[in-house]
Amino acid sequence: MRFIRSVPILSRAFVLFAALTSGTWAINITTVDIPYLIKAGSTDPIILDCNYELGNSSTDGLVIKWFVNQDVLYQWIHGKVPTGSEEFKKYIDESFKASNDPRTMYRAVKLVKPSHELSGNVTCLISSMYGEARAIRKMLVYSPAKSLQLHHPLLNKTANRLTVTCLAEGLYPRPKIIIHRDRKPIQFQEQRYKNNTDGRFTAEAIAVLKADKVKLPVIFQCEVSIFEANYSFIQEYVYNGSQVPCFSLLILTLNLIVFKRY
Ligand SMILES: *[C@@H]1O[C@H](CO)[C@@H](O)[C@H](O)[C@H]1NC(C)=O
Ligand SMILES: *[C@@H]1O[C@H](CO)[C@@H](O)[C@H](O)[C@H]1NC(C)=O
Ligand SMILES: *[C@@H]1O[C@H](CO)[C@@H](O)[C@H](O)[C@H]1NC(C)=O
Ligand SMILES: *[C@@H]1O[C@H](CO)[C@@H](O)[C@H](O)[C@H]1NC(C)=O
Ligand SMILES: *[C@@H]1O[C@H](CO)[C@@H](O)[C@H](O)[C@H]1NC(C)=O
Repeated sequence: MRFIRSVPILSRAFVLFAALTSGTWAINITTVDIPYLIKAGSTDPIILDCNYELGNSSTDGLVIKWFVNQDVLYQWIHGKVPTGSEEFKKYIDESFKASNDPRTMYRAVKLVKPSHELSGNVTCLISSMYGEARAIRKMLVYSPAKSLQLHHPLLNKTANRLTVTCLAEGLYPRPKIIIHRDRKPIQFQEQRYKNNTDGRFTAEAIAVLKADKVKLPVIFQCEVSIFEANYSFIQEYVYNGSQVPCFSLLILTLNLIVFKRY
């Protein structure tokens, strides 16, 4: 189905006329409920809601539209069934009713396992023959690391070089990655970030140390974090100088998820 982009010019003129003559607002948004931070794939019920009052004005031409940035997310034409847009249908529960009042029943959007693609400026637009009202909020659907690998350090005795690498995948928005040695960030390290075709990021950190300056055992930690989401994930690796990693004895992996709610 096609989505109506905006109210036609003629009805806009009428709206202005109506507003001027009546001296009141035909539509008022009373509450806006758009969460600022969501974890991608979350199974918690997430509802985007703008409640409104129509006062005495009728529901003629009442249309509720939701956008993510410039893209339509959801639309409900009063008296019809609500529909999620082609692009985002898979993240929407179209059967969700926000109320039993036929004037506002399908005003809200219930998200089902949302993805990072739904991040951005979320807008609700309530319009009718008599007026329109909108609300905009920023929403971030962050994607935590799908994997974080701190590899066994590579020793090159001839070059007196110990190389530590760490790879994190599947993050959104762009994370920060950093390798620590005995809880302090390593001074010389290189970070590489790649934006994948799905929009999520791969981050890699490579640190090179002078092998004879490394006191064993040494604790390496790789931390990947998303500042805006207050998210951080740490892998730890204890290196005692052996060339071949013996998983049962040498590796101490500590997964630390720090996720604080605002
Ligand atoms: C909207 O708010 C304005 C200003 O507070 C008020 O004059 C108007 O009656 C309200 N309209 C509705 C439909 O509630
Ligand atoms: C709505 O209609 C009622 C009755 O017709 C009237 O008393 C009231 O003032 C109207 N309210 C507004 C906001 O126009
Ligand atoms: C969201 O809105 C802000 C402020 O209007 C703007 O600076 C920003 O570029 C917008 N973001 C997107 C993704 O469109
Ligand atoms: C070790 O470093 C030297 C000098 O940079 C290099 O020629 C050699 O190929 C390296 N050895 C390995 C196994 O990477
Ligand atoms: C990442 O790549 C996608 C598609 O390749 C693109 O649409 C998006 O704008 C890029 N994002 C950033 C932050 O570079």
